Amino acid sequence: MRKLTQEDLTHLLDQKIFHLISEVADGLGMECYVVGGYVRDLFLERPSKDIDVVTVGSGIRLARAVAARLGAGAHLSVFNHFGTAQVKFHGHEVEFVGARKESYSHDSRKPVVEDGTLEDDQNRRDFTINALAVCLNRARFGELVDPFDGLWDLEDRLIRTPLDPDVTFSDDPLRMMRCVRFATQLNFYIDEETFEALERNRERIAIISRERVADELNKIMMAPTPSKGFVELSRCGLLPLIFPELAALEGVKKVNGRGHKDNLYHTLEVLDNVCLRSDNLWLRWAALLHDIGKPRTRRFDPVAGWTFHNHDFVGAKMVPEIFRKMKLPMNEKMKYVQKLVGLHMRPIVIADEEVTDSAVRRLLFEAGDDIEDLMMLCEADITSKNVQRKRRFLDNFRLVREKLVDLEERDRIRNFQPPVTGEEIMAVFGLKPCREVGVLKAAVKDAILDGVVPNEHDAAYAYLLRRAEELGIKPVAP
Ligand code: CTP
Repeated sequence: MRKLTQEDLTHLLDQKIFHLISEVADGLGMECYVVGGYVRDLFLERPSKDIDVVTVGSGIRLARAVAARLGAGAHLSVFNHFGTAQVKFHGHEVEFVGARKESYSHDSRKPVVEDGTLEDDQNRRDFTINALAVCLNRARFGELVDPFDGLWDLEDRLIRTPLDPDVTFSDDPLRMMRCVRFATQLNFYIDEETFEALERNRERIAIISRERVADELNKIMMAPTPSKGFVELSRCGLLPLIFPELAALEGVKKVNGRGHKDNLYHTLEVLDNVCLRSDNLWLRWAALLHDIGKPRTRRFDPVAGWTFHNHDFVGAKMVPEIFRKMKLPMNEKMKYVQKLVGLHMRPIVIADEEVTDSAVRRLLFEAGDDIEDLMMLCEADITSKNVQRKRRFLDNFRLVREKLVDLEERDRIRNFQPPVTGEEIMAVFGLKPCREVGVLKAAVKDAILDGVVPNEHDAAYAYLLRRAEELGIKPVAP
């Protein structure tokens, strides 16, 4: 965090837009402040485009006057219902709102709103670090108003509510997710009293829409070390409420003194490993869900110990169910996650056994363009503390990767289109769409993937005729 003096703040706000708001507000005799995330991010040196301005009076009135002063380059949107207005100007988005006082009823996030003072407005905010305000009026330009010592909390890296946390969280339970999200994004600690209120108020999360919860989860996922957020969610008891399938991974079962690894902590390690190498949100989701089928497939065998047979397959089947429930997109992103979850054991099996051309070719065929992401996930999945075992897997993965490059160059399997089509098969043998067409087509595909036949039309056609003859299917006369 940077230490900012009043002079520094004045300097940082020395932009045309702030001076203009200042002049307009002074002209109208209105008190006005920059507040919230923008101020917090100035201290944290995080880039931030969205500016929130609070005025003691009507935010809409101030916004109209600012937009009028900016002239043609500005775009004004007024939200009468919320008493707010937004001005867009050269890439800036400035949100204007009148200072308000809010009171909440128990079963809703929608408050009763009254006009208030700056202090009322700061009181109703979620965290001390989000309640900082800097005055824009000329006489006090750059003056920081920090009634809850938010600046100290920024220095101490602490997330703390300005008021009694039970009130802040019960008023708007989404703030419980925001609390964990900010702690994760900023790598801050959650203050003890605030944390205890998370535990006490967790059931209130039920009144928050799944979209909003998913939004916060995605922000946690995009943080540099998302495991931190999931550990906090688990510690305070929110995880089973918002994501029971993930919570079910936690814990170690023991039979005859034999336990398995804790699959939640393993999963989080894999997730963090992936995050070191990729910003792809959906690859991160694939890492989070790669072992999601384990609780449903866990068995104890007196000889083999704990097994999770088919957890990849069961996990892949759970992906659409989870995405639908959590209001995540049911589109190609979900399909991608599902595919990676379903395939995540394949490179390990190949690397554990013999790395044959045929196995690698099949993997390439099924993963297609997502092969690189799949390999990244699988490498991240090697969390063994046994150095030799880890080395062996990673060495074999290198071999798989070399073969992938080699085979791709030779056979172009990645976006495999069978060189002999179903139509051609029907025409050659005078068949209508039927089982035999499928059998012949699959035979040609398998022969190519097994390396029996090159990935070329003429060779594949000759193989087709041979195979058909063996099956007693005759070509029609030309
Ligand atoms: N706020 C709040 N309670 C919420 C949401 C927002 O008190 N549930 C307040 C906070 O003071 C916050 C400000 O409104 O700083 C703006 O909210 P928002 O734009 O959602 O958050 P930022 O803090 O700007 O952070 P981010 O953009 O990362 O969400």
